[in-house]
Amino acid sequence: MTTEMTDEELSPDRRRFLGALIGLISSGITTVLGVTIGRYTIAPALSNTNVGEWTDVGLLEEIPEGKPVKRNVVVSQDSGWGRFNSQRLVWVIRKGEQVTVFSAACPHLGCTINETSNGFICPCHGSAWSADGERLGGPTPRGMDMLDHRVEGDLLKVKYQYFKQGVAEKEEAG
Ligand code: FES
Repeated sequence: MTTEMTDEELSPDRRRFLGALIGLISSGITTVLGVTIGRYTIAPALSNTNVGEWTDVGLLEEIPEGKPVKRNVVVSQDSGWGRFNSQRLVWVIRKGEQVTVFSAACPHLGCTINETSNGFICPCHGSAWSADGERLGGPTPRGMDMLDHRVEGDLLKVKYQYFKQGVAEKEEAG
């Protein structure tokens, strides 16, 4: 004589309980996997970076006056499995002693901002800015993101940072 119950013999309450238990176990496994993958892949890539530190842009005398100049700055990161450098673009504008540095990352979705004859434009969705980085139109929620800079001797340095995309206020991305 056997005591095993078939599916048809399980009560609806018991079936519901088993369904909820399986759902709970599945979401537990998903959470543990997500936290583990994030801990070992994403978090190290965002740590130990020189983002927010002073980085060389170049000699100030090599920046022509009154015309935006695109420059690369090196962002270095310790990923946990090695240190690597990547380049980020900035726009530098020099008017006499006054220097302005903008991130070339579009505040909408991060495409690279290009120069036009009288300002800047994003080729992805057509956002436009004046020569001073003021928002003129398109889906960008704000003006171009200005970066802190300083001059040490002849050398222009910038504090490269990432900012949140798609929000009206300039806010550092954490
Ligand atoms: S990414 Fe620049 S306008 Fe959309």
